[in-house]
Amino acid sequence: MIPLLFSSVLAGLLALLLYQRTVYPFFWVDLIYYLKLRRYGKSLQARMKSGIITYLDCFLHQARKNPNKPFIIFESQTLSYRDVDRRSNRIANAFRAHGSPGQGDIVAMLMCNEPDFICVWLGLCKLGCEVAFLNNNIKAKSLLHCFRSCGAKTLVVGADLVCLVEEVLPDLKKDNMALWVVDHTAPSEEFTSLLDKVESMSGESSSDLPKVNIMSNFLFIFTSGTTGLSKAARVGHLKAVLSMAFFEMCGATSEDIIYITLPLYHMSASLLGIGGCIQLGATCVLKKKFSASQFWKDCVKHDVTVVQYIGELCRYLCNHPAVPEERAHRVRLAAGSGLRSDVWRQFVQRFGSRIKIREGYGLTEAGIGFLNYTEEVGPIGRAGYFNKLSMPFELLRHDPVSYEAVRTPAGRCIRAQNGEAGILVAPLSAMNQFLGYAGNQVQSEKKLLRGVFKDGDVFFNTGDLLLHDDQDFLYFRDRIGDTFRWKGENVSTTEVSEAVGLLDFIQEANIYGVTIPGNEGRAGMAAIVLQQDHKLNGSELYDHLVKTLPAYAWPRFLRIQTSLDVTETFKQQKVKLVTEGFDPDVSHDLLYFLDVSQKEYTLLTVSLYQDIVNGKIKV
Ligand SMILES: *[C@@H]1O[C@H](CO)[C@@H](O)[C@H](O)[C@H]1NC(C)=O
Ligand SMILES: *[C@@H]1O[C@H](CO)[C@@H](O)[C@H](O)[C@H]1NC(C)=O
Ligand SMILES: *[C@@H]1O[C@H](CO)[C@@H](O)[C@H](O)[C@H]1NC(C)=O
Repeated sequence: MIPLLFSSVLAGLLALLLYQRTVYPFFWVDLIYYLKLRRYGKSLQARMKSGIITYLDCFLHQARKNPNKPFIIFESQTLSYRDVDRRSNRIANAFRAHGSPGQGDIVAMLMCNEPDFICVWLGLCKLGCEVAFLNNNIKAKSLLHCFRSCGAKTLVVGADLVCLVEEVLPDLKKDNMALWVVDHTAPSEEFTSLLDKVESMSGESSSDLPKVNIMSNFLFIFTSGTTGLSKAARVGHLKAVLSMAFFEMCGATSEDIIYITLPLYHMSASLLGIGGCIQLGATCVLKKKFSASQFWKDCVKHDVTVVQYIGELCRYLCNHPAVPEERAHRVRLAAGSGLRSDVWRQFVQRFGSRIKIREGYGLTEAGIGFLNYTEEVGPIGRAGYFNKLSMPFELLRHDPVSYEAVRTPAGRCIRAQNGEAGILVAPLSAMNQFLGYAGNQVQSEKKLLRGVFKDGDVFFNTGDLLLHDDQDFLYFRDRIGDTFRWKGENVSTTEVSEAVGLLDFIQEANIYGVTIPGNEGRAGMAAIVLQQDHKLNGSELYDHLVKTLPAYAWPRFLRIQTSLDVTETFKQQKVKLVTEGFDPDVSHDLLYFLDVSQKEYTLLTVSLYQDIVNGKIKV
């Protein structure tokens, strides 16, 4: 009797297991990941109860716990957690002795990757300042826009980047901007030197840390150059602290040596990378700039076990000629985002199948994020029951032309079906905060969708198209306004606008795709503002395109604008331009059409337009 019962229970269990494996094959990985997230949430709560709340608190906690552990290795220097703590105290004390900046001030930092980037940043945190990281590829005139938009009154600039600022010195003086240079001497009287003052300061922290509200703003990060003018996204303390879990969630430990080559002014390196390293109490090998030829050499030299990537980085590595070190390293984990599956396959094949890849999806502005934690190639994350439990989100049906969410007659949005790309949106909550863009109410509001499923609900609109398949995998499809497809290829608007922007007679180029009846995808169009006193030189533009871009990326149409309308946000403007297309009757600007046989742009007349629309002229 007993054995019979036993065996039927066993058979039942087996059947259940088989059922689960066929119908919910990812049940266990999903559950384990969910529990891991929960465990992390619990430990975060416990830590916060004991007073370790902010990014800075976490750092100070590690500095107390592991003072002698190497934190940053940079070129020939090694700084322990204590070294960085003491140096950031000295920096804070130097600012304090000078009388400014102080608590509540916004300080812009324009520095390359170096240990002092971190020391200055932490020093400013200790003073209670909010920092704004500036992209150091920035052009002088956008610098002013950046300061003004985030409200910074102080700029700290690295010794090697002073030249970037010099061009706009008169304007900075007019704005009463205090200028500090991270050097022992100042290049001119407009600057105050920092390092000479730091040397005579005490390394002790001289006062209590300012009290902070975990829901308040921590820093500003300018979201990367996918749009004409960059926007200062507010990043809250909570988001910063949650970001610190990144490497831990990917499976790294305190024993790991983490190689960071990405620029620290981006969130990935500063919050996920350095923050993730602090969270673990691990060691970071920091590189001034990514170098494909040095990458594996550095990994061998420093015994690196974890690397942080973005998709392009992996592609550069795959395109680089072989070096002996590429198979001699101990790297076991690569964590990052934007890796395409074809590059991933190459990457692992060439650099070692021991390397585990953890692909994530995240945004600077909001809390929503995914991590690819299964062994599947291609998806960026999972959308199962447990995933939505820890991080609610929806994919909404969208209009392929306007890229807006489709609304029912009653004004509600519609969920995209499985297999249909939809706009990723996430309800705002304490865990998914959106603090908006500094000084840009219109643009901030534009990122929100209201009344999505019922009155009063608010969702953050990521602007990304994702696809949810039958197995609950999530795939990245498109970034609205960022890429379009033409002739079966992806055209990156950023890449085209950068290339076109190189020409002397072009001040600004806004690239987008327009639909042509009878054609798949979108043909490239460039809305161009000409440099003052310059004329369009179509044949020069054509020659330049041939030299710099693949044919599918060439703008087929031009639209000459007198100015990019700054009262409208970039996205709004783009949507308007996309909607107006290339119809000369609709647009009030001069339009041109690329005549490849003539190697020239010709004026787009109404009859030419008709011929294109009717398919008499092939594009
Ligand atoms: C997801 O992770 C797996 C295993 O680590 C990897 O094989 C796959 O390439 C990853 N997906 C992407 C898009 O990178
Ligand atoms: C274009 O991009 C999409 C996602 O952004 C990707 O799935 C697809 O493979 C890309 N196609 C080409 C030809 O690069
Ligand atoms: C356009 O540029 C080319 C050189 O790229 C030059 O030879 C030509 O004269 C220019 N045309 C006009 C109208 O300026």
